[in-house]
Amino acid sequence: MQNQNHFAEINFEDHDQLSAEERAVISSSLQQFQKGESSEGRHLYAFAKEFSDPEYLECIKLFIREEQQHAAVLASFMKKFQIPLIKGHWVDHVFRWLRKTGGIQNTLNILLIAEIIAKVYYRALHHATESVLLKRICLQILSDEEEHIRFQCDMLKIFHSRQSRLTNLINRNFQLFLMTGTALIVWCYHRRVLKQGGYYFGKYFLESLLIFFEAEKDIKSRKSFFKKRKMIAT
Ligand SMILES: [Fe+2]
Ligand SMILES: [Fe+2]
Repeated sequence: MQNQNHFAEINFEDHDQLSAEERAVISSSLQQFQKGESSEGRHLYAFAKEFSDPEYLECIKLFIREEQQHAAVLASFMKKFQIPLIKGHWVDHVFRWLRKTGGIQNTLNILLIAEIIAKVYYRALHHATESVLLKRICLQILSDEEEHIRFQCDMLKIFHSRQSRLTNLINRNFQLFLMTGTALIVWCYHRRVLKQGGYYFGKYFLESLLIFFEAEKDIKSRKSFFKKRKMIAT
């Protein structure tokens, strides 16, 4: 994560097209993802403060800012093509509630699932759209989400290394249950975009699980992607 606007070079005044058919396919899906990306991150920031690590807190600030940028560019794109923003969606409400339930480990686990789903979704959207602007937005979001996954894993491996094998096993099974459930719900609401992008159910579901298993492997590896960090919960 870097302290800069990754989307600064995208000019929404540039000529771009969105056919009526494509608009019909992506509108409601884009509305939900735009809403999902927008969060003030207050709870996450409050949780992150529990760790006496200013570097981590700084990373969390940048992370929240990046997610807000995702929401802002999607909103600009939607505005250009008169797709209205939505105030809420029950899936988003449930996700926000889940993120706030439990401690920071739970929040990071839920965020990780959201990042994994985003990675598959924006790949599909990139293939589904003919819009040059939306393709560029998807590519930049994908690059950011890749880093977000590593970032969440990096922190989760600290919890993993501290907990007993049994606790890790219970957490892992719960996480797999949530991952599977989320992937199914997302399929129900976004399958038109996913299919348009070449992601039929089998491919979508398998790819989501593969990314989940890769992240799991990364968490167990305990090799830190970001600089060595000593996290001491206060
Ligand atoms: Fe995002
Ligand atoms: Fe993200």
